[in-house]
Amino acid sequence: MRQVLVLNGPNLGRLGVREPEVYGSATFEDLAGECRAVARKLGLRADVRQTDDETELLRWVHEAADGRIPVVLNPAAFTHYSYALRDALAMRTAPLVEVHLSNPAGRESFRHNSVIAGVADGTIAGFGLMSYRLALEAIGELVGPGEPGGAGKAGEPAGAEEAAGAGEAAGAGEAAGAGEAAGAGEAAGAGEAGESGGMGQPGGAGELREPGGAGFR
Ligand code: DQA
Repeated sequence: MRQVLVLNGPNLGRLGVREPEVYGSATFEDLAGECRAVARKLGLRADVRQTDDETELLRWVHEAADGRIPVVLNPAAFTHYSYALRDALAMRTAPLVEVHLSNPAGRESFRHNSVIAGVADGTIAGFGLMSYRLALEAIGELVGPGEPGGAGKAGEPAGAEEAAGAGEAAGAGEAAGAGEAAGAGEAAGAGEAGESGGMGQPGGAGELREPGGAGFR
């Protein structure tokens, strides 16, 4: 079964007690369990990790690049300022989807800029735990069905320029727009967004891009 890394940055281990009006009441363990279950249904094996340490997160990103492992990443506060994380992700050799529980675009201005978005295939924000589900579905579409030993058959790595191009063409802007349309982007919206259910159209991310557009399989 093909592996996907679900990486989470600082303070996300505090979910459940951390600003529940923003991030909802689910704990990190709830999130991890949900990701593993969703991934399994998609024929993927989710390895869900969290760290407050930038160095450790960089090591995991390098591991993903070396192993051609697709990544769902919530960079948390690193989103807004970590050029080291961006540079590490620019070396990626498999799809990358940036996720956020809340909708940073609807919050304080320092959250409006993501230094990560430009090296991701796309960004999904504002839907609470559903952001992760949609991100895993996007990864499933991008990598196709798992094969035994699939990581070794990941296909041709695309250059950083191609990866950034795919992100610009089909990624962050559209995903953020969907969040706004669904009204999920309010700071208090994470819990409500989860309940608003069907606003994220299954398979929508796949329709936004040409098959294999990101160049990673
Ligand atoms: C977050 C949004 C970031 O701005 C914030 O620093 C986080 C969580 C989210 O999931 O909504 O830690 O990434």
